[in-house]
Amino acid sequence: MISDDLRDIVGERHCLTDTALRASYETDWTRRFSGSALAVVRPGSAKEVAAILRACVSAGVGVVPQGGNTGLVGGSVPRGGEVVLSLLRLNEVGNVDPDAGEVTVGAGATLASVQAAARAAGWEVGVDLGARDSATIGGMVATNAGGVNVLRHGPMRRQILGFEAVMADGTILRRLPGMPKDNTGYDLGALLAGSEGTLAVITQVRLRLVSRLAHRAVAVAGFENATLAVAAAARLRRELGSVLALELFTDAGMELVMRHASVAAPFSARRPAYLLIEAGSDERDPTDGLVAALEAFELGDAAVVASDPGGRHRLWQLRERHTEAVNAEGVPHKLDVSVPLARYAEMVDRAPVVVTAVDEGARTIVYGHVGDGNVHVNVLGPSADDEQVDDAVLELVLELGGSVSAEHGIGVAKVDWLVRDRGEDAVDAMRAIKAAWDPDGILNPGVLFRP
Ligand code: FAD
Ligand code: MLT
Ligand code: ZN
Repeated sequence: MISDDLRDIVGERHCLTDTALRASYETDWTRRFSGSALAVVRPGSAKEVAAILRACVSAGVGVVPQGGNTGLVGGSVPRGGEVVLSLLRLNEVGNVDPDAGEVTVGAGATLASVQAAARAAGWEVGVDLGARDSATIGGMVATNAGGVNVLRHGPMRRQILGFEAVMADGTILRRLPGMPKDNTGYDLGALLAGSEGTLAVITQVRLRLVSRLAHRAVAVAGFENATLAVAAAARLRRELGSVLALELFTDAGMELVMRHASVAAPFSARRPAYLLIEAGSDERDPTDGLVAALEAFELGDAAVVASDPGGRHRLWQLRERHTEAVNAEGVPHKLDVSVPLARYAEMVDRAPVVVTAVDEGARTIVYGHVGDGNVHVNVLGPSADDEQVDDAVLELVLELGGSVSAEHGIGVAKVDWLVRDRGEDAVDAMRAIKAAWDPDGILNPGVLFRP
């Protein structure tokens, strides 16, 4: 029996077959996706991961790698009958190399734990996102996570210097510590970024760290419409060299955040669209420059700046807590997309229109990383399996020349749209890689491609 084999590999305590013990691993963060697992296994080493994969190949059982289970496209939970392979025990954070600004971490280490280690050594992790307390480095590589600092440091793929990963047949690939310059054939670490658990199980990652900035300032500014907010974001990016993050949200989203996350409004004036701008510098406090740049937009009372850590945190809460505030209203359809900046405002304005055209009662909450052209369209109302609103929004994205997945990935949520977006030839090339790395198709079946 496969469960007996799994118990032999990880020990009784780390092989969960009891329904209640499996439950939290079987439903995703949004509650839109769930399925029952044959078992949840929690290996303590790459060797155990290899043995689990070999056992699953022999038994013909699918494997769903899982980190913090904060993924938003249904790729981290079983579809029915797979083994969930949780990486959370591989959470070691190695010593930060203080000169090189590099660190090797276990795939199950949370982003927050790596941030703490990096900061203690005078460095910073290049990628940051709201799920930092739960999201793991392995999951972040597997999804090529983006977050709020892509503008400055790029997504997760750009932070990878080396890796250890286990292939479906149990082969352990290891390129650690990894060099900043390393032109030795194909960049397999980069290939794993965005592979969503379909090619190999990542067990360790060597990360490039970035410098810590001595001074930071955050502003929130209100605008009469999305077009003005997007134009302001573009101008700020061009004129303020210190910009680290440019985020957009609307009054409908802020209303939900204030209600569900008990966060206060930044100023008494309410506006249809808001920008959050973070600026940072090593040499001098960016506050004055940010204030001067905002004054040019003549926003009156609808702008506020904070330079102290508490004030900056409070302003960030207005943007970061959108995800949980939307979740508190119901099970959302989450469409993470990107469009060219020139079409961003149009996407923000038209998304609710195309949604209500197919479902009159649906509510649309839009926010996103405007600096990267990344829009998060959240729809409340339609049942979890009703894909009409998803299709309407993704159709609009292709019309505007965008990508159907900016940073969350394809998962099981957008499998049919991968072909629509990338075309048959590109998806055939991806399938060929999948077939070479995982000939039995046991790694995350149903994610990226139909099995
Ligand atoms: P999981 O959810 O466990 O898994 C995600 C995918 O990766 C699955 O397909 C899984 O099979 C695969 N996987 C996980 N670990 C491994 C491994 N070790 N080896 C191989 N495959 C693996 N995402 C962004 O990009 N930007 C954001 O700003 C952002 N903000 C968020 C805010 C909130 C509040 C929440 C809930 C989510 C947010 N996300 C964001 C989405 C999510 O946090 C990221 O996708 C994150 O990278 C997932 O990490 P995880 O450890 O939770 O992975
Ligand atoms: C965000 O930017 O807040 C995240 O990607 C999560 C979400 O889309 O809700
Ligand atoms: Zn995001």
